[in-house]
Amino acid sequence: MTEYRDPAYACAYLAMQDVIPQRDVGERLLLDVGCGDGRLLALAHTRFPGAEGVLLDHSAAMLDAARARTWPAPVDYVAHDLSQPLPPLGTFDAIISGFAIHYLSDLRKRELYTELRGLLNPGGLVLNLEHVASVDAHEHTRFLDLLGGKEDPSNQLAPAWDQVAWLRESGFARADVVWKWLELALIVGWTD
Ligand SMILES: C[S@@+](CC[C@H](N)C(=O)[O-])C[C@H]1O[C@@H](n2cnc3c(N)ncnc32)[C@H](O)[C@@H]1O
Repeated sequence: MTEYRDPAYACAYLAMQDVIPQRDVGERLLLDVGCGDGRLLALAHTRFPGAEGVLLDHSAAMLDAARARTWPAPVDYVAHDLSQPLPPLGTFDAIISGFAIHYLSDLRKRELYTELRGLLNPGGLVLNLEHVASVDAHEHTRFLDLLGGKEDPSNQLAPAWDQVAWLRESGFARADVVWKWLELALIVGWTD
């Protein structure tokens, strides 16, 4: 049971619901790069069901899996290889990515961050839940063991803090690692 069963508490929430910071970001338009089956957009919709989305991936099978979902708001699908410059996509309030950008070279990661910055509306942000480089070989082995011990030769892992620096160089007003566990990190860049 939550405080929302108290009518006064519920009314207080309803009176301020439109001034919750960043809420509008999530409720307008989201771009998911390297979307897979749309898992992250689906997660975002649990909180912001009105958010329209663009799902981008280079895998037709992944985009088909995303199309098979039932979405609560309009969703567009873009087949594109992120190793190439982004096509015209429009502008966005939030750009999300999960475990996809680490397949790109470091040079391309930096270019992509600059391109993503250019797609953001004022106040927008990029959230990259990423597979990042370990701080040392011991941590890498520990992480690999937890995942079954198999190296993925496609990985081009970069340290989370390097990526924060690249976001800043790309024109983001602020950037940070807001969560990290071994080789998984949530890297966020904010515009003003
Ligand atoms: C590990 S899956 C993650 C999928 C999803 N984002 C998630 O969080 O579950 C990586 C995804 O990145 C996509 N991907 C990898 N390299 C890509 C590239 N160069 N261009 C576009 N998509 C790419 C793959 O097709 C795949 O859907």
